[in-house]
Amino acid sequence: MLPAASLLLEWYDRHRRTLPWREATRDPYRIWLSEVMLQQTTVAAVGPRWRRFLVRFPDVETLAAAPWDAVAEEWAGLGYYARARNLHACAQAVVARGGFPDTEDELRALPGIGAYTAAAVAAIAFGRPTVPLDGNVERVTARLGAIEAPLPGARPALAALARRWMEQDAARARPSDFVQALFDLGATICTPRSPACALCPWRSDCEGFRTGLAPSLPRKAAK
Ligand code: ADE
Repeated sequence: MLPAASLLLEWYDRHRRTLPWREATRDPYRIWLSEVMLQQTTVAAVGPRWRRFLVRFPDVETLAAAPWDAVAEEWAGLGYYARARNLHACAQAVVARGGFPDTEDELRALPGIGAYTAAAVAAIAFGRPTVPLDGNVERVTARLGAIEAPLPGARPALAALARRWMEQDAARARPSDFVQALFDLGATICTPRSPACALCPWRSDCEGFRTGLAPSLPRKAAK
């Protein structure tokens, strides 16, 4: 059985983590910035850096107009300067086209925006019914479906399963919350080691739990 989106959303409504970029914002600029930072830095470390970045560059126009040195300086310690370069280039492209596009495909076409970021911004900022596949979501999906094929080859199968979850009415009514509920489930319950299956709202529809395979998934191809 497909796990019910409504069960996950009810769990999220009770247990959602309070995170800075969730404080009543649908501003695509703020959400995009949080997602780029979260790709290389932990949730705990991103909070203060995200806030500080926004004090200095409060909107996409300010970031686009800033000299590269100022952006690099603000990025110090976050690592991967290529990402800051992409961020700056993307801000300039967004301003040149008159604002953030609101579809996944158009977001994907911006410089430096990959499949993950395009899906995350589309779902979280614009409520598009799409699921960004990060490590957390890959793990949750592999376990729910007991998908034993190793990563990275299994990615299309994982994405297909996540898409089916998002097709449910309850998920389509709240794509932003549904996606963030998946992140939280992966971060707090469906953890890489010793998942807390006893506390999981999706346990009764989890093939990984039923078969006992959950803790060993996802598999990774031998290097
Ligand atoms: N990891 C990546 N994006 C996230 C988000 N929006 N909330 C929590 N964890 C995340």
